[in-house]
Amino acid sequence: MTEKEIPVRIARATAERFGAEITANPDQAGADSLARMLEHCSHRRYSDRPVTPELLRLLFACAFSAPSKSDLQQADIVQVADPATRTTIADLVADNPWVRTAPVFLIFCGNNRRTRQVAELRGKPFANDHLDAFMNSAVDAGIVLASFIHAAEAAGLGCCPISSVRNHSQKVSDLLELPEWVFPLAGLCVGYPAEPGMVTSRLGLDITVHTDRFDESNIADKITAYDRRRLARQQYKKQRDVARFGMAELYGWSEDKARQYAKPERADFGAFIRGKKFNLG
Ligand SMILES: Cc1cc2nc3c(=O)[nH]c(=O)nc-3n(C[C@H](O)[C@H](O)[C@H](O)COP(=O)(O)O)c2cc1C
Repeated sequence: MTEKEIPVRIARATAERFGAEITANPDQAGADSLARMLEHCSHRRYSDRPVTPELLRLLFACAFSAPSKSDLQQADIVQVADPATRTTIADLVADNPWVRTAPVFLIFCGNNRRTRQVAELRGKPFANDHLDAFMNSAVDAGIVLASFIHAAEAAGLGCCPISSVRNHSQKVSDLLELPEWVFPLAGLCVGYPAEPGMVTSRLGLDITVHTDRFDESNIADKITAYDRRRLARQQYKKQRDVARFGMAELYGWSEDKARQYAKPERADFGAFIRGKKFNLG
């Protein structure tokens, strides 16, 4: 990759992602890393090439180099190495067949347990037993997950996060023997991609970036414009819940997400988290 190609990659990726080119100065520091972030895509098909334990360990180190709320370090990763355990999880999330076939499968967990252990070890009261304890550990785990993905992609790997494991939180927790105050945030499939990925379009920055105050003016028009821009590049392979909602003429992102969230999902997650002894008050 020559230096000259990087601005071209950035322009192309931003156009694909946001519908308008964002250009980078030819001498922009870190341009290669920025181009790679812009080109991110989830991968669900992998080659047979193994991911070495050495590389995996390096990626763990990268992931846990991420910032952490108050330096509390409230995230853990469980590598699912036992084939029988992998099969059990793959069976639970059978509509995600890449969980079975990925060379590496990890579960990223929020962990508020250690913070409580530290309080006990040092003979101090734990005076923050409320919703923030859950929030902070979930956020930390999410940041570690994203950092792992960035590192893996830099190393030429492809990943796919799997929140479907939370459709079976209790079973996954039991299987991995996750104790109280430790919960699965998401799984992650990892491997060398078997095929090139495709950059998916995102909402325009005019929707998601605000200046000084929250602004959702013309939100309906902006979302429809996003639907159309996205549809021009990628169609949904099938429409959700046609029996209930019929076939839509314009089946864009907003129709897909509205249909997705018209169906209850994970209504038991709060009970699971309370069962982990989190006080969500
Ligand atoms: C927390 C999280 C959970 C996800 N869970 C799943 C999942 O269960 N199954 C799946 O196939 N993809 C899953 N994904 C991948 C998203 O579908 C994907 O990121 C999204 O469609 C955008 O595509 P892109 O990553 O290629 O840009 C998840 C992504 C995130 C961040």
